[in-house]
Amino acid sequence: MTHRKPFVAGNWKMNLDRRSAVDLVARMREHLGSRTDVDVAVFPPAVYLDEVGRAVAGSPIRFGGQNCCDEEAGAFTGEISAAMLSDVGCPLVLLGHSERRHVYGETDELVQRKVGVALGHGLEVVLCVGETIEEREGGKTEEVCRRQLTAGLSGVAEGDMPRITIAYEPVWAIGTGHTATPAQAGEAHGYLRGLASGLYGEGVASGVRILYGGSVKPDNVAELMAVPDIDGALVGGASLKAELFLPIMDLGKH
Ligand code: 13P
Repeated sequence: MTHRKPFVAGNWKMNLDRRSAVDLVARMREHLGSRTDVDVAVFPPAVYLDEVGRAVAGSPIRFGGQNCCDEEAGAFTGEISAAMLSDVGCPLVLLGHSERRHVYGETDELVQRKVGVALGHGLEVVLCVGETIEEREGGKTEEVCRRQLTAGLSGVAEGDMPRITIAYEPVWAIGTGHTATPAQAGEAHGYLRGLASGLYGEGVASGVRILYGGSVKPDNVAELMAVPDIDGALVGGASLKAELFLPIMDLGKH
């Protein structure tokens, strides 16, 4: 079986300020030391990317944008391009987050274009998918995951798959405290890996990391990580405080 290194990422969303962002990454950096058993990343608000980039330089902590524009450059007020993320040294970008899809109306087609532009600029993409509570209760979880994943990956060549991480984030679990059970998450992750296998073959699919996101906390991360197809966590609220995020970075083992 392919070894997939655990990957823990903090999506700060529209939170923290310059000072608390830098303090938080300093705590993370100190805690992580030179450990290489887990990959760690943060997704700060765009205005703090440069500063956070400097604060993590020389450490194993990586950072990325929470979104990018599907266009290369030009008259797109308020947008940030993939080239700009790359220019400030970001290795990563988060795309298709449920808040982008549901609050800002991003469609599968838009997310697909963003994935293409981001890969074109050398970024690694964390592609988020997940169903709403209505979709789950209507028995549509797999249909929604299939639609979002196949659209998001539709322009991605097999050779670019090492730069793709999938994040399964059921919308009903985000910020609600209603974490998916390990069984629910495991079922969705297994389904997503099966889809990736159908698209790219088992060899590629077995190397793709699939993160779980939605009310991950220090006391539930270990049971989630014990599920074979769960390769890490994408953490919102609990990534904002060192006392919560550091134990999550340890995968709840200490
Ligand atoms: P919470 O951890 O706050 O539920 O947020 C999850 C999320 O949306 C991460 O991208």
